[in-house]
Amino acid sequence: MSATARKSAPMPQDILARKGGQPLVSLTAYTTPMAELMDGVCDFVLVGDSVGMVLHGLSSTLGVTMEMMILHGKAVRRGLTRTMMVIDMPFGSYEQSREQAFENAARLMSETDAGAVKLEGGREMADTIAFLVARGIPVMAHIGLTPQSINTLGGYKVQGRGDAAARLIEDAHAVADAGAFAVVLEKVPASLADRVTQAVEIPTIGIGASAQCDGQILVVDDMLGLFTAFKAKFVKRYADLGDQAKAAIQAYADEVHARNFPAEEHVFADEAPSPKGKGK
Ligand code: KIV
Repeated sequence: MSATARKSAPMPQDILARKGGQPLVSLTAYTTPMAELMDGVCDFVLVGDSVGMVLHGLSSTLGVTMEMMILHGKAVRRGLTRTMMVIDMPFGSYEQSREQAFENAARLMSETDAGAVKLEGGREMADTIAFLVARGIPVMAHIGLTPQSINTLGGYKVQGRGDAAARLIEDAHAVADAGAFAVVLEKVPASLADRVTQAVEIPTIGIGASAQCDGQILVVDDMLGLFTAFKAKFVKRYADLGDQAKAAIQAYADEVHARNFPAEEHVFADEAPSPKGKGK
């Protein structure tokens, strides 16, 4: 990656400066080709720990490891020149102590060349966020539905309804005061997302939140219709690539069975091609 190429990608301060401005656009990415499609279109891409469910067939994000994040982080980074990359800290890599969090966040940043890390949690993570930021690691926070805590939350439920709304606002203030440059709000009532967006001075990035958030994020395989194990209400399918891929695989199988593939144009002649018929 050249220094020039790096300079054109936004940095955490640029994301922070977009508070209240043009909405920020973000998607998850796990591979180089997908990152290339997003480069320059998204303001940042997230190498989400959703990779465990989306690409590795895990039933939750709890089994995702540092090694998986680093492998996918490096792949995504190779596809980006104009878009910032944020990388998730996997479950178990930051909760024990702020020192543990620093060691693993520094590893993610140095081995993948990410621009920032994301971690889940509100007030209970404020001290860790402040520790990381003071030591040069930009942090995006993630509150509301935090999938790494499904076992204590009791499933993938809407968060912040009723009395829990005040606690969610406190969480948002806590991560903003600790120095997070943005906060993901996942699966919270739209009116609460609007209140949080008004209340904090850092951009809110909604997923299952509200169009009034300062930005939006979706899991790319969900919005492309590639991940079809289930569909959350907050996912809009912008394409049905899963159905298209299935139809293409079936068509290929049918043609192989019928000996219609490969056809003449896909096979090679005995004689080397003349310079005119190059490639035949
Ligand atoms: O891992 C993930 O995909 C996330 C979401 C916010 C998109 O954390």
